[in-house]
Amino acid sequence: MKALVLAGGTGTRLRPITHTSAKQLVPVANKPVLFYGLESIAAAGIEDVVVVVGDTADEIEAAVGDGHRFGLRVRYVRQDRPLGLAHAVLVARELLGDDDFVMYLGDNFVIGGITALVDDFRARRPDAQVMLTAVRNPSAFGVAELGPDGRIVRLEEKPSRPRSDLALVGVYLFTPAVHEAVRAISPSGRGELEITDAIQWLIDAGREVRSVEISGYWKDTGNVTDMLEVNRTVLESVTPQLDGDVDETSEIIGSVRIAKGARVRRSRIVGPVVIGDGTEVTDSYVGPFTSVAEDCRITGSELEYSIVLRGAALEGTGRMQASLIGRYARVTPSPRTPHVHRLVLGDHSTVELSS
Ligand code: G1P
Repeated sequence: MKALVLAGGTGTRLRPITHTSAKQLVPVANKPVLFYGLESIAAAGIEDVVVVVGDTADEIEAAVGDGHRFGLRVRYVRQDRPLGLAHAVLVARELLGDDDFVMYLGDNFVIGGITALVDDFRARRPDAQVMLTAVRNPSAFGVAELGPDGRIVRLEEKPSRPRSDLALVGVYLFTPAVHEAVRAISPSGRGELEITDAIQWLIDAGREVRSVEISGYWKDTGNVTDMLEVNRTVLESVTPQLDGDVDETSEIIGSVRIAKGARVRRSRIVGPVVIGDGTEVTDSYVGPFTSVAEDCRITGSELEYSIVLRGAALEGTGRMQASLIGRYARVTPSPRTPHVHRLVLGDHSTVELSS
């Protein structure tokens, strides 16, 4: 069995972060979201992985390499334009061969991994198996309508009037039957070859499509609210490890992981929190559910339920919450006069000022 990991796309919902970085590499608890997917593929006993890349190919390839550190053999295939998930199956056809495969959307996050699902598929081997989960905003997903016997009767991609709240999770299991389906369908209204249509084609052709319901799922960490939530959930199971240099006047409470080259001075850190290598926290409070990446400076600031990416600097910020701070961003106090806010923001940035 192989895995097909989709790591193309543009990540419009996570702007401005994704102006400069692939959405699959945005970190959750200081680790790129894509790595959790690759780890769960390896944990399910799969070694051969085909990664479909687009415009951010260089960055993805630099981060994942040949996959050996995940225990995987990774090969890449280029999808020149984002023409849909079924199109990604088409371009990977040769590398997939005639093996069964799990298709994993690189920006999806499934808590608890995929081992049970892969084992279940291997045991029963339906033509295709999908995962469903109840969501509050089904219009943002592929949506399944189930018949009285619990089988899928209809799948619709991002319907304006969804027939259920059961969304398709971005992890699909296929036998080679899917190759015929992706060749048979035509582009949707949004101009893409939809995997949803390919699965519907299999259903209409009388093939066996199983569905399994799961919980603990985030669609593509595709917006800041979801990112913070998935970060919170992952941090909940962080193992405390204080490798960094923490002075005596600092207080560390709860599950806190401080990387080796980090320094904490006169600060209070209340976990769960992770702090990356090379980061300095001085005269500050870092509160629950916060991930601070590498090489950041947090000085005279208070921060909780937030994600701070590599190289960012926060100085004298007062209490910050539910924030996502991009790489090398700087938040500093303004001079006393004139009493103004002065902002230099990247495209599609969001700032909420409390006074
Ligand atoms: C894609 C699929 C959709 C599925 C979703 C899960 O959507 O087309 O059916 O529910 O992934 O992440 P997209 O990533 O194009 O928004």
